[in-house]
Amino acid sequence: MSTLLEVSGVSVSFDGFRAINNLSFQIGAAEMRAIIGPNGAGKTTFMDIVTGKTRPDEGRVIWGEKSVSLLKLSEAQIARAGVGRKFQRPTVFEDQSVFDNLLLALKKDRNPLAVLFYKRGPTDTEKVVALAEQIGLNEQLYRKSGELSHGQKQWLEIGMLLAQEPQLLLVDEPAAGMTPEEREHTTSILVEAAKTRAVVVVEHDMEFVRRLNCKVTVLHEGSVLAEGSLDHVTSNQEVIDVYLGR
Ligand SMILES: Nc1ncnc2c1ncn2[C@@H]1O[C@H](COP(=O)(O)OP(=O)(O)O)[C@@H](O)[C@H]1O
Ligand SMILES: [Mg+2]
Repeated sequence: MSTLLEVSGVSVSFDGFRAINNLSFQIGAAEMRAIIGPNGAGKTTFMDIVTGKTRPDEGRVIWGEKSVSLLKLSEAQIARAGVGRKFQRPTVFEDQSVFDNLLLALKKDRNPLAVLFYKRGPTDTEKVVALAEQIGLNEQLYRKSGELSHGQKQWLEIGMLLAQEPQLLLVDEPAAGMTPEEREHTTSILVEAAKTRAVVVVEHDMEFVRRLNCKVTVLHEGSVLAEGSLDHVTSNQEVIDVYLGR
């Protein structure tokens, strides 16, 4: 599998505390990857670094076929290069319908060259309907987003990110605050999304991680402690000591 993202030797300190410590790992194109680890392990900071929100003190973050350094790009440029990130608090427009939120997401940041080299493909309406089906909100298309449940808002947010067709989708603790049924539906949305792009999911819920059925990276004190199948990493004694056995 070709490498989409390569993090190598990355460190970052906050007030002298090393939150990320010589972190190295790779994500393949169209790969699903789960990241687990205790609170404070550096999982969110890793996402902050990839998206350009936090700049590391040292190391490299290399992206895509052309091996572009993400450290040289602004947050907006990184998003345009194909990195999407889902935050915990949904940023949907509550007064707008599900349809309009998805439509707005389709149009955001549209490449001006696409207008110049316009080729007739699926219409925006068709794209919105396909996205709504992908996230399971096709029966809620004309409802105000503010009326959706917590889980449904999270799915809408994922749909709005997918509308941008990111090559890499970063998702931080998507199952938080969800019912078991909502968690299952969230897993299937992410598994489906990972068929055509890389998806990196930080999650504490081990049932959720098991359903993702993917390689797992365990972070601890800002470095990779273990990596492999869920069964492999959860039988690692160090992982049990620092994370599972607490
Ligand atoms: N902007 C920041 N300023 C100061 N300390 C931070 C900042 N961001 C993260 N940290 C610290 O870095 C460590 C890693 O945090 P974080 O990446 O949020 O961990 P995780 O997501 O794995 O729980 C924590 O000790 C946290 O307090
Ligand atoms: Mg976190």
